[in-house]
Amino acid sequence: MSSETLAFDVYGTLIDPHAIVVRLEGYLGDRAIRFSQIWRSKQLEYSFRRGLMGAYEDFSVVTRDALGYTNKLLETELSNKVQEHLLDDYTRLSAYDDVPDALTKLRVEGRALYAFSNGHPRDLQSLLDHAGLTDLLDGIVSVDDVASFKPDARVYKHFNKLTNTQPSRTRLVSSNAFDIAGAQACGWNATWLQRDESLVFDSWGELPNTIVISLSSL
Ligand code: LAC
Repeated sequence: MSSETLAFDVYGTLIDPHAIVVRLEGYLGDRAIRFSQIWRSKQLEYSFRRGLMGAYEDFSVVTRDALGYTNKLLETELSNKVQEHLLDDYTRLSAYDDVPDALTKLRVEGRALYAFSNGHPRDLQSLLDHAGLTDLLDGIVSVDDVASFKPDARVYKHFNKLTNTQPSRTRLVSSNAFDIAGAQACGWNATWLQRDESLVFDSWGELPNTIVISLSSL
């Protein structure tokens, strides 16, 4: 894959959302993990719905709505102020430990490296700046430019247009199976990052081109 352009998913791939669970534990104790799982899966469901309905809102709105829903569903009664703090934390998460070294190595090898995410450009910039990753990347591509979400084919096509790359010479690296499926459907290669070995690849048949358990093995 020597001259492939690499597009890295952000949440759960480069950026570790675990700090949110730690913060939630302070409010919810042992209900924090369930809360964060429902929050994340609702966030993705809302992004799929909005993409299909042509009802785009920036990803921070999607994240906020999913938080509000989870709070109601689990009757956790997090106040508006606490919810604001959690959403604020969402823009200041850290990178996974393996990320800086892996990106540095790939850059030395001359790869073009991009962050490619559902996040709004404003949030991605502050997130990646805070995590110290901006200088290790050639650029940040957000779905916001096309007002839809992954895995809408238009967002992968937009990436290729913006970066002047060919689908067959582009590789997505993502921990999200739906993202892998979306990229492969557009003719990209894709590497599934299986950060947790208990996860199974969630697809309708097509498998990722490669699977790695950490970015160091890319
Ligand atoms: C992203 C989400 C899907 O960063 O993790 O695009």
